[in-house]
Amino acid sequence: MQSQNRNNINAVITAVGMYTPEKILDNKYFESIVETNDEWIVTRTGIKERRMMENGATSDMAAKACEDLFKTTNVKPEEIDVIIVATVTPDMFFPATACLVQEKIGAKNAWGFDLSAACSGFLFALQTGASLIQGGTYKKVLVVGSDKMSAITDYTDRNTCILFGDAASAVLLEPSTDSNYGIKDSMLFVDGSGKEALNMKAGGSALPASEDTVKQKLHYIFQDGKAVFKVAVKGMADVSYEIMQRNGLKSEDISYLVPHQANLRIIAATAERMGVSQDKVMINIDRYGNTTAATIPLCLTEYYRSGKVKKGDNLILAAFGAGYTWGALYLTWGID
Ligand code: COA
Repeated sequence: MQSQNRNNINAVITAVGMYTPEKILDNKYFESIVETNDEWIVTRTGIKERRMMENGATSDMAAKACEDLFKTTNVKPEEIDVIIVATVTPDMFFPATACLVQEKIGAKNAWGFDLSAACSGFLFALQTGASLIQGGTYKKVLVVGSDKMSAITDYTDRNTCILFGDAASAVLLEPSTDSNYGIKDSMLFVDGSGKEALNMKAGGSALPASEDTVKQKLHYIFQDGKAVFKVAVKGMADVSYEIMQRNGLKSEDISYLVPHQANLRIIAATAERMGVSQDKVMINIDRYGNTTAATIPLCLTEYYRSGKVKKGDNLILAAFGAGYTWGALYLTWGID
């Protein structure tokens, strides 16, 4: 199913931007706070360092990523129609982080909303933004992935604290009648049976914040790593392979796999299933760890800016995350 042609409008990424906080937490730092070591972290995950936002929240990082994007385009903040912020670490339950970003960047004619799909958040938001463009009503949609994972990380839990980092990244979607470029297909899924394996238990309506929830450390990320690993490998590899199949793509047609950066071993398994060599896989997990909704646009921004992604390149974006949520999206890069 290629949804973009209903109105002959294609949704194309026309600008990118990113923000990563200055403070670096390397593996040595974690050796000093929990029972772990650099060798374990690198071989089991591929992570060497990650960033931490010291002053500010998710909306501050998101706004900085958008401001970085605006430096590279003639589009002005007041021209933005919609802001979608993918995040699991909103500044507050409400108002939505998208509202806070709207004010910070001066997008005075925009509406917007937050999208909660954990590590698949950016993919889900990108498809949502593309659909708004393809519908013909909206011309400029900002899709932002921003997560301050340090806000919900228990730095005494070695199972999770080494994995996550803070970052934000944004893309601008605009319409084009040139069907050679833009978002061409996506396959997205949710399966709530994954809720026990990866979650943050308290603070919502099921278990509101109380002295007890704080004492029991229920406001932090919980992950059964082994359980998630198994389904993530299969989920991400299968959906990436299937989207190739249904679009008639061979491995040589793919310029890059752009995977969510949770674990280098999950990424390698996905690339192998697709028959894509490691040099065609975008990787920055070593420098940023798992930044949840920000990983994929961060990869896109860095690889584009270093000249590695060119107009006409076919990309497969793939993610797996809490929910479970997972999916893949096929696009052709449209920026010179
Ligand atoms: N340093 C040293 N040892 C650690 C450790 C750390 N930071 N964290 C866990 N260990 C230990 C465990 O306690 C366990 O010890 P035990 O056998 O004595 O119980 C051992 O290492 C192996 O743990 P295990 O969980 O089997 O490791 P793993 O190879 O599965 O790797 C993850 C752990 C979290 C890296 C991996 O499971 C993973 O990446 N999971 C999926 C993450 C993901 O994709 N999430 C979805 C998106 S967020």
